[in-house]
Amino acid sequence: MTVDDAEALDAADPLGFASARFRLPDGVIYLDGNSLGALPAMTPAALADVVNRQWGGDLIASWNDHSWIDWPIHVAARLAPIVGARPGELVIADSTSVSLFKLLAAAVQARSGRRTIVVQQRDFPTDLYVARGLASMLDLEVRAVGPDEILEAINEDVAAVLISHVDYRSGVVHDMAAVNAAAHASGSLAIWDLSHSAGAIEIDLIAAGTRLAVGCGYKYLNGGPGAPAFMFVDRDLQDELRSPLQGWMGHADPFAFVDDYRPAPGIARFLTGTPSILALAALDAGLATFEGIAMTALAAKSRQLSQLFIDAVEAGCGNEVRLASPRDPARRGSHVVFSHFEGYAVMQALIARGVIGDFRAPDLMRFGFAPLYNSFSDVFRAAEILAEVLSTGEWDEPRFKARSKVT
Ligand SMILES: Cc1ncc(COP(=O)(O)O)c(C=O)c1O
Repeated sequence: MTVDDAEALDAADPLGFASARFRLPDGVIYLDGNSLGALPAMTPAALADVVNRQWGGDLIASWNDHSWIDWPIHVAARLAPIVGARPGELVIADSTSVSLFKLLAAAVQARSGRRTIVVQQRDFPTDLYVARGLASMLDLEVRAVGPDEILEAINEDVAAVLISHVDYRSGVVHDMAAVNAAAHASGSLAIWDLSHSAGAIEIDLIAAGTRLAVGCGYKYLNGGPGAPAFMFVDRDLQDELRSPLQGWMGHADPFAFVDDYRPAPGIARFLTGTPSILALAALDAGLATFEGIAMTALAAKSRQLSQLFIDAVEAGCGNEVRLASPRDPARRGSHVVFSHFEGYAVMQALIARGVIGDFRAPDLMRFGFAPLYNSFSDVFRAAEILAEVLSTGEWDEPRFKARSKVT
């Protein structure tokens, strides 16, 4: 692979046009869309319109006149083709952690009598914390198992299985259809965390038999820092489940102001409080960046980008770094991790050179590939810069070793 090859791939890229939908600073190669998606070019104007014209001009009438009240469901409709959901199966609200709590609690309540929640022991910590917190409230047991032990851990005592689709560290993709089938066969409910897969790889929730899922809005969906999360509930399950956080926005008739709680029919019952309109406006602009994009093309480019990066890093860096993600592209999400004993310092030195990735303890340098805005030549150049940073030893400076709060 040479720079000319990478440029040829860019010239032939059917998604090449989409990078104009984003604004990135000159001189930056941004490989951290798996943590915080880049700014969509239309977001500033979209937010300014909601602030100035709607909030500033139309004030409270906007809840009706601009349908603010329906945005949690309207904005979610843009997400449906990205994850393979049917209309009315998605809603946007809260954070991923809170959404997880809601769906996990609803699931275990619907499977009362069963005492176990299965989790993947190396999953993102918030998922484990939520499961353990809920289990201690309800006197249930959390069974944390390795990534290859999920299927055998599912038995008649399991109420729910909580698992990330793509592992936040290794990038491993878990087999959604297989876990769903095992959960279904045992009468339990699987809940998927799609934070690292939605908008990055192909997902067909319906074809995979998924019944419950959550995911965050600020990574590959480009909804901005702290963007709200989404919840997916299979339409045939919705009326069987109750949200544990009963609030007026999930009521069948919020403006009746009656004393008794009656859950809304359908997905709206998973809402709790007043939707965050500015955050929804930003997420809507983030989701608009997927308009006209075939998810098969997006997934294909994701695999090509990560493969190019792996090949170029291994060719340029030799044994100095070790691939800690699957080699098989079909088993990988859209990020790649390489380990290095001073991974934090190496990543800081890369960032100082304009190549932005992130670091996950203890020694993992994580590089995310957002097929909408990353080009093949940028990814190739990033691998070259990594090789330079390692061969010059420029990472070995005290300023690159001082840990910031956010890594
Ligand atoms: C798999 C996964 N779940 C959840 C979260 C974060 O949850 P929240 O949006 O509540 O901060 C992350 C954050 O990176 C994540 O990677």
